[in-house]
Amino acid sequence: MSMKRSHASGHPFNPETLALGYGYDPLLSEGSVKPPVFLTSTFQFESAEEGKRFFELAYGLRQADEGETSGLIYSRLNNPNLQIFEERMAAWDEADTGATFASGMAAIATTLLAMLRPGDVLLRTSPVYGGTYYLCEHILPSFGIKVHEVPAGSKAPEAMRALAAEVGWEHIRGIYVETPSNPDIVHTDIAAMKALALEIAASNGAEVPLMVDNTFLGPLFQRPVAHGADLVLYSATKFIGGHSDLIAGVVTGRKAMMLKVLEMRTILGTMTTPFNGWLLQRSLETLSVRMRRQAKSARKLAELLKAHPKVLQVTYPGMTDEGDEQHAIWERQCTGTGSLISFEVEGGEAAAFRVLNHFEIARLAVSLGGTESLVEHPMTMTHSDMPQAYLERLGVRPGLIRMSVGLEHLSDLERDLEQALSFA
Ligand SMILES: Cc1ncc(COP(=O)(O)O)c(C=O)c1O
Repeated sequence: MSMKRSHASGHPFNPETLALGYGYDPLLSEGSVKPPVFLTSTFQFESAEEGKRFFELAYGLRQADEGETSGLIYSRLNNPNLQIFEERMAAWDEADTGATFASGMAAIATTLLAMLRPGDVLLRTSPVYGGTYYLCEHILPSFGIKVHEVPAGSKAPEAMRALAAEVGWEHIRGIYVETPSNPDIVHTDIAAMKALALEIAASNGAEVPLMVDNTFLGPLFQRPVAHGADLVLYSATKFIGGHSDLIAGVVTGRKAMMLKVLEMRTILGTMTTPFNGWLLQRSLETLSVRMRRQAKSARKLAELLKAHPKVLQVTYPGMTDEGDEQHAIWERQCTGTGSLISFEVEGGEAAAFRVLNHFEIARLAVSLGGTESLVEHPMTMTHSDMPQAYLERLGVRPGLIRMSVGLEHLSDLERDLEQALSFA
């Protein structure tokens, strides 16, 4: 029998517990305690009638009877390794269901294509990850979808309200928020964005889904569904995969919207492979331990950076002053600090490059959330697609470095950071 979502007494299990057993029945796989890798493109039906039933449900040709579920058909539609991971992710996010993708960008693009149609307007915060920016700036407009943005942060909900009034509420069909934002780690209030989405939806009589990219803090330290998000998107390449050895994405959310996302995934074929699904499910088992330990080290490094004479500014969740608006949002919607730090060194790009070139432990590489520490230069690397003036307006300046803190010994990381900074 597979593990239930709660104890027999009704007491719900925590996501850490569910990550070790939920959604998998060993007795269906020769008693194997760990799920095997289901490396198959297709699944055999017991009878033609069963095949017909499975397709009817998978293609929405009829409603499921009480307790009836769709069976396994074909690995573009469903596969046990993806399903186990999806059920555990949905439990973690307190969402109805999940969908795994070949990359974070596949998750984002498939979701936006599922939600939007030509003539629709999407409102979003900025900055966002470079790939998301490119999709919104260059690809969606070529399909007749208009995308407008406001700066992320404490003022984003009221700025978005003003923007909505300016562009007209009638065509708005979605709000997209990356919080905290990449690379400057700025928080946007999810509940306030949801209030705006509901108002717009009530006025134009259409769904206005609130989509939240939760890559930086989730699912451990931020659960957007609890604050009103309809769809929660991740680059699972980062903390969820956690070992910098795969590219993947995942979306969780409300059932009705997820059905549209799954329909689009089935037809575009943007799902991940069984083996990556297996790796993700395996990584989820240690997610809580990894993220908590990484966050603990990151907090110490952020404090070191804050006190350093060559560092002009440090952004780290929860390290804002009490009473600060960013602090208030963080306190309301986050339960931890995460392990990403943005800091600006004195001396612009040249100084930032000297620092980056002298790390001995932290690797000079893009990406984040892996077991090893990584450092990069957003302006010339992950965000180099965006015009420099645009980035500077958003606070992404030439001296800015993004650091993802890994699982190395803290004292080694402290020494590494100190010696690299001495070259600034
Ligand atoms: C916040 C955020 N969202 C989405 C993505 C895209 O994910 P992937 O590289 O897995 O496609 C990234 C990648 O860095 C990211 O940082």
